[in-house]
Amino acid sequence: MDVANTKKRKILVTQALPYANSSLHLGHILEAVQTDIWVRFNNLIGNECLFFCADDTHGTPVMLKAKELGVEPEQLIKDVQIDHIETYKLYDIDFTNFHTTHSDENKKYSEFIYNEAKNKDLITRKTIKQLFDEKESMFLSDRFVKGACPKCNEENQYGDGCSKCGATYDVSEIKNPISALSGTTPIHKDSEHIFFNLPKQINVLKDFLQKSDLQKPIVNKLSEWVNDDLQQWDISRDAPYFGFSIPGEINKYFYVWLDAPIGYLASIENWASSNNKKMEELWSKDSNYEIYHFIGKDIAYFHGLFWPALLDSANLKLPDGIYVHGFLTINGEKMSKSKGTGILAREFAEVCDPETLRYYFAAKLNDKVEDIDLNLEDYVTRINSDLVGKYCNIASRCSSFIKKNDNKLSDNINNELIESIKSKKPLVTSYYNSRNYSKAVRLIMEMADDINKYINDSTPWKKELNDAIDISSSALYAF
Ligand code: MSP
Ligand code: ZN
Repeated sequence: MDVANTKKRKILVTQALPYANSSLHLGHILEAVQTDIWVRFNNLIGNECLFFCADDTHGTPVMLKAKELGVEPEQLIKDVQIDHIETYKLYDIDFTNFHTTHSDENKKYSEFIYNEAKNKDLITRKTIKQLFDEKESMFLSDRFVKGACPKCNEENQYGDGCSKCGATYDVSEIKNPISALSGTTPIHKDSEHIFFNLPKQINVLKDFLQKSDLQKPIVNKLSEWVNDDLQQWDISRDAPYFGFSIPGEINKYFYVWLDAPIGYLASIENWASSNNKKMEELWSKDSNYEIYHFIGKDIAYFHGLFWPALLDSANLKLPDGIYVHGFLTINGEKMSKSKGTGILAREFAEVCDPETLRYYFAAKLNDKVEDIDLNLEDYVTRINSDLVGKYCNIASRCSSFIKKNDNKLSDNINNELIESIKSKKPLVTSYYNSRNYSKAVRLIMEMADDINKYINDSTPWKKELNDAIDISSSALYAF
């Protein structure tokens, strides 16, 4: 398909909203580069493609991180937002708008969607038992309970899974639970929670899985969830919690994953209001914009089930597609803070040119959900052989001749060479469009080889200066 020649599309693109409790690592950059390339590609071929993001600011981790630093959560998220924006800039990520979920727009949309869901009888209540830290007067989410793994007995594991044997379990199963906040033993306490009735939206979800652009393994996984065990979704958290309080309730807050994707809408509206655009034009049932979310595989559940179900309950347009990528590993290993195998994006940019990492990621990215490895040796080899040895080599080989011509290119160009390069355009564009950047890069490097071969075969260094200038000019046009 020659996507460059089809009708101009209007597209809204988002990447997942990074948590506002820490700096960005290279995994975040992988996602940003994948998304940014697609957005740039679309704009280059004449589509209108807007790219939105925000910081995901609510929830317990942010609250506790602020406490640990001795600052208010509001201060923490302000500082982190600056850090995130600066870091993305280092990697040339070209957002249309980068907002925050701790915003008026997000509060408004969260309340709106909640109220719409309520009007449609999609909100229920149920009393549940939870672990409660009496010293901190706080209910504990899984991540704030530590104890021994119920399977292998390894001490000091989190409430949701064991880092030694990889078991996942319910927090109630963990042995000798201890609050990670106060070190005291938590008690079981009743609390009434508010739920979104996901099972009632089953037909919406089935329809969504059929109609939207999703990768096969993602459809399979989501269908499994839809058909097997759709549960009511707990959307409330008790105070103290850093988030939006739920209208009409006392001391209850929206769970961070309720307002996080709504942050996409908030970022768009925030941009729209200062750019003379209306939300109805951008994201509504009758807008002309297509909507695509780029996310990592760990959050497919939230985007493929909760999110469309929520949007539908508020009669808003569902995404046209969700594009899921795998995880970045480094030298074959998972990134882990404790093992020291994580690399912060800012630190990496101090020692390597971010542009070269963009190239490396592009050379490996495809439309699959597979993990992607940053092998540092391979990275160096790849940059040296492709970018330095092949691509830039074209320009450097030709420049000496052009210099002798007052830095002017000649008009006597080898059309055959130029046409052979141009003829690859439909294929290159289709690779970009389908997010098979690795194929696009491979093809582009083959073209670089062709151009280098043309220079070799034409031996400008053995020719009269005029001929050498023609050859070099042809190669530079091709370049
Ligand atoms: N805040 C949520 C997303 C809310 S979207 C409405 C979140 N934040 S995150 O900071 O943990 O992750 C942000 C994105 O980065 C996610 O798409 C996640 O999959 C991705 N990645 C996190 N670690 C990653 C790698 N190691 N490799 C590639 N992507 C990774 O989840
Ligand atoms: Zn274990």
